[in-house]
Amino acid sequence: HERVFSGVQPTGNLHLGNYLGAIKRFVELQDRFECLYCVVDLHAITVWQDPAELKKSIREVAAAFLAAGVDGTKHIVFNQSQVSAHAELAWIFNCVARLGWLNRMTQFKEKAGKDRENASVGLYAYPNLMAADILAYRATHVPVGEDQKQHLELARDIAQKFNNDFSKSIADLGLAEKFFPQPEPLIAGPATRVMSLRDGARKMSKSEPSDASRINLTDDADQIAAKIRKAKTDPLPLPETVEEMKTRPEADNLIGIYAALADSDAAAVIAQFGGQQFSQFKQALVDLTVSKLAPITAEMKRLVADPGHIDQVLGSGAERAEAIAGETMNHVKDIVGFVRR
Ligand code: TYM
Repeated sequence: HERVFSGVQPTGNLHLGNYLGAIKRFVELQDRFECLYCVVDLHAITVWQDPAELKKSIREVAAAFLAAGVDGTKHIVFNQSQVSAHAELAWIFNCVARLGWLNRMTQFKEKAGKDRENASVGLYAYPNLMAADILAYRATHVPVGEDQKQHLELARDIAQKFNNDFSKSIADLGLAEKFFPQPEPLIAGPATRVMSLRDGARKMSKSEPSDASRINLTDDADQIAAKIRKAKTDPLPLPETVEEMKTRPEADNLIGIYAALADSDAAAVIAQFGGQQFSQFKQALVDLTVSKLAPITAEMKRLVADPGHIDQVLGSGAERAEAIAGETMNHVKDIVGFVRR
């Protein structure tokens, strides 16, 4: 049974990287799969979140899903903390995953920074919760940006170790040998790693202090235009081949953004704009970005103005998610050997 799961953290500043690397792809997968899209509020609090801001951000991410075209009726849109299975399964995975596995996680090292002693235990165990998100639904496909690849590999390792450690119990209960599937990352397209507009070597990120480094899903047309016009480029005209593009990070990034927004690919963008000046290309990129984002931004605004509707979507999503995850948890508790009520 094929099933898609993915999550986005409600930590403010949803940006073009989140849209092109994840949310836009969520929409595209709806025709082919049963999909669950989750606002991962439990993940958000692994670093301090102001409670009032968190609540706002949760509704904003849900609004972004819906505004981009996710169908919360046909599919499931919910926030993680409403379904207790995520935290329960994460605890069991805390006991499956090895310290050595987590010690290799590059995102923890980046996020914890120099003051590692002062990072929360939750930040360290973050990838186990992410594995629980996916595997609570025994999801088979996970659309994410490139930066989540290592976490997905860990989720696969956890699934495999659980299946192995408990193989006898799984067989005794008459369950399928591969109780947890190996979730497959879906990392594809021209914008799996959107870079900062100010620095072609850094990822576009919610936490980057310079707002000019990213296009937020709440930016208006003037802000988008100003940020793209100011975007860093090298002094040459646009590359004329994909190979040349690969050696020029800023050009690569802007061409990738254009290609993703246009549902095209880098080769086609180069065929159209190769050899032209950046000023010309940037104007085309401004027009395309505004035309694609403005309707989403407007719909997000409309949706967040009525939190009642969003909360109803999240509540209904959580109920349906719970039915699926609850079944997994019943099996997991039997597999592990807990005494049941
Ligand atoms: P988060 O909230 O940091 O990002 C949400 C999604 O956006 C993608 N993304 C990018 N894609 C391209 N270019 C970028 N610059 C860029 N920045 C972010 C991310 O790869 C992600 O797909 N751990 C996850 C959330 C999560 C999750 C899950 C994802 C929790 N549980 C289960 C999948 C399945 C995260 O922090 O994403």
